[in-house]
Amino acid sequence: MTIISPSILSCDFANLEKEIKKVEPYVPWIHIDVMDGHFVPNISIGIPVIKSIRKITNLFFDVHLMIENPEKYVDAFIDAGSDLITFHYEAAKENTSKIIEQIKNKGKKAGLSIKPKTDPAEIKNYIDLCNLILIMTVEPGFGGQKFMEDCAKKIATVKKMANKDDLIIQVDGGINDLTGKLCTNLGANSLVAGNYIYKSEDIKKAIELLKK
Ligand code: DX5
Ligand code: ZN
Repeated sequence: MTIISPSILSCDFANLEKEIKKVEPYVPWIHIDVMDGHFVPNISIGIPVIKSIRKITNLFFDVHLMIENPEKYVDAFIDAGSDLITFHYEAAKENTSKIIEQIKNKGKKAGLSIKPKTDPAEIKNYIDLCNLILIMTVEPGFGGQKFMEDCAKKIATVKKMANKDDLIIQVDGGINDLTGKLCTNLGANSLVAGNYIYKSEDIKKAIELLKK
């Protein structure tokens, strides 16, 4: 089963509750993009928003931290209601295993993400420590960008390097029914999609197509 994680970055933020309710019947997770204006050239949402939406849904919170010094904020994001914290290897090179441990010690799932230019060989030693590896198929920072097909090859590489069966391999950026299929064929078992889901006229159908 492919885990579909709609990215609320593509939502109408004036109606966040309604927007979450639109996908709630069809998916187990929502993807929450956190940007700090340093690690990526954009600023999105943070801890207070997560705390608020935690009260209106039981969906699993898949939180994607695109921030520098993630170790400083991991605890606060978990206390706000995150179920999974994915941070970027590029923002945490020296203390990657420490941050993974920090997340797991709080009883939550840990994910590690790589940007398009990062070679998956660099994270080889961390894969088995993680619950999820997130392969970015666009430069992080904005929704609605074009899928970078070259990055998808990393899915198979990561899958080969993993020594555990329950690793979640997630892709994020430019995912639609076609690019999603390409990724699941290569071994991805979780798809993040923002614009494809939220800008579609039939959200239910878009999600069903992704699941296929
Ligand atoms: C980009 C974010 C993505 C984004 C995906 O930096 O990490 O999660 O919301 O949006 P789409 O699916 O529209 O490319
Ligand atoms: Zn994301």
